[in-house]
Amino acid sequence: MPGASMSNQDLHLTLLESEFSRVLDEHSTGSRGESARKSNSPGEARLRDRTRDRRFRQLLDALPAAVYTTDAAGRITFYNEAAAELWGCRPELGKSEWCGSWRLFWPDGTPLPHDQCPMAVALKENRAIRGAEAIAERPDGIRVPFIPFPTPLHDASGTLVGAVNMLVDITDRKRAEDQQALLVRELHHRVKNMLATVQAIMGSTARASTTIEEFQQAFTGRIMALARTHSSLAEDEWQAISLRNLLCHELEPYDDGSPGRVLLDGPAVDLPSATAIPLGMAIHELTTNAVKHGALSVLGGSVAVSWTLMDEPDHPELTIEWVERNGPAIGPPTRRGFGSQLLERVLSNQIGAHAMVSYEPEGLRAHLRVPLPCRMSASVQ
Ligand SMILES: Nc1ncnc2c1ncn2[C@@H]1O[C@H](COP(=O)(O)OP(=O)(O)OP(=O)(O)O)[C@@H](O)[C@H]1O
Ligand SMILES: [Mg+2]
Repeated sequence: MPGASMSNQDLHLTLLESEFSRVLDEHSTGSRGESARKSNSPGEARLRDRTRDRRFRQLLDALPAAVYTTDAAGRITFYNEAAAELWGCRPELGKSEWCGSWRLFWPDGTPLPHDQCPMAVALKENRAIRGAEAIAERPDGIRVPFIPFPTPLHDASGTLVGAVNMLVDITDRKRAEDQQALLVRELHHRVKNMLATVQAIMGSTARASTTIEEFQQAFTGRIMALARTHSSLAEDEWQAISLRNLLCHELEPYDDGSPGRVLLDGPAVDLPSATAIPLGMAIHELTTNAVKHGALSVLGGSVAVSWTLMDEPDHPELTIEWVERNGPAIGPPTRRGFGSQLLERVLSNQIGAHAMVSYEPEGLRAHLRVPLPCRMSASVQ
């Protein structure tokens, strides 16, 4: 869940920041206190300082957050391994200024000159900067969004001696935010489409119904079929639904267990939501027709659905064969209702699919050709 990982990250940052300040405090007070107490000779004091300095640098290197320091003029005096990794380069100590990144940008992508970066502002204005955000571009072109925490450092007399900065990589957070924004846009789009679909179904069902009861039954059945497809899509984070599932959801309620009542045969195919919704409606209409007029309206009748996938890289296509047998003898239809309209017009308008329905005396046969988006061919198992 993006929300949970964000709050964990925030907590992590706060802990890191306070731990870092505590270590810094200990380092500076320890340095002054111990020197006063133990400075027997200048040589011993220098040795103690060097040992402390080495320990402190080891500690900074072990930190998972990028940390670097500068002198009062902004020249980089130290950086840890995490900083070198974030920057993707190793700036020259004592020469590189303000920030070790290759290039810097504001969050909106406009270039950020190094001498105006948050670390430069912290040093020039002698104040800690919080709440800033920037993007570092590495020499290999990878951009890393980060939050800096530049903090000026002072000596015992309060004179500015440099600054320390911690850079927190927020790539994961940004990715989660982008993903969330995309989902919200997609949701708006789908809700609009869905309302238009429901309106169209209502109009067509009303025109084809002779009584209110008939309207209510057909309309409810169609909305329920849409809801089933949506639920299956939601289970897969709105990505895809398998064709077999789509068929099972519709046909299972009419499978009385007798041999061959419902036969499904074909490879595993994942349908993207744009295809699954209209195709799910078509399968619902075929099923309802089989129950009302065809093979599933009598005991012993059977429906066999088989499908194949033409996995051409440029135009993958799914073909579905729906065959009803052992039902009542049928002839050419005398009316055209919503089912026919959906198979003949809606499917081709919405997803470019073609349906051919033959009313053979021994039962209905429908042949569907459904183009799939190119990227689907990779996810077909
Ligand atoms: N599986 C089938 N077996 C036999 N006849 C069928 C079958 N499916 C459709 N028909 C015939 O084709 C006609 C048109 O079907 P269509 O689905 O367009 O309309 P409907 O089912 O009568 O009404 P609606 O779909 O609007 O509820 C049906 O009335 C029926 O006579
Ligand atoms: Mg029908």
